[in-house]
Amino acid sequence: MLDLIFPYYLWVKAAHVVSVVVWLGGQCILVVQLASHRQALVRGGNTDLLREVEQRCLRQVVNPAMLATFLLGATLFFLRGPETLGEGWFQAKLVCIVAMTALHGAIASTVGTLRRGTVSAARIRGLQLTGLALTAAIVFIAVIK
Ligand code: HEM
Repeated sequence: MLDLIFPYYLWVKAAHVVSVVVWLGGQCILVVQLASHRQALVRGGNTDLLREVEQRCLRQVVNPAMLATFLLGATLFFLRGPETLGEGWFQAKLVCIVAMTALHGAIASTVGTLRRGTVSAARIRGLQLTGLALTAAIVFIAVIK
């Protein structure tokens, strides 16, 4: 099976980068939406539409793109072979990926919390800055190696 896919390694890598862009771009936009949602709650406005948009963004864009990133990344890993695990860049990338997955969970849980009440502005700023820092770290590690 892997032998069949190997000639398409660069195609899989390009698809991996596309899914990464959609995952992390979608995540970034979702956090901006959360900040608007919080402000609307503070002003006592109607937030039904914002809630719906957040749910849709998470379910239809961010979650599927995260799954695709993992599947395509894992395919690249198996195509390169298990010795990749011994390479420093990949170990550093794995640590950042675990942190990025935890951040994804924190964003999804903030979407849930905002459905029931409000959250602090500092928490939303923290999600945004952590996302940017982790994105920069993983992309620099993956490209520069
Ligand atoms: C937030 C998550 C991720 C980001 C931002 C990311 C980013 C990238 C980027 C930009 C590249 C292209 C590097 C180049 O120019 O050669 C790449 C390649 C790669 N990624 Fe990811 N990736 C992510 C998740 C994963 C996961 C979950 C895995 C494996 C389980 C993985 C495994 C790989 C492998 C093996 C390559 C190929 C490296 C090469 O051929 O030189 N990635 N990644």
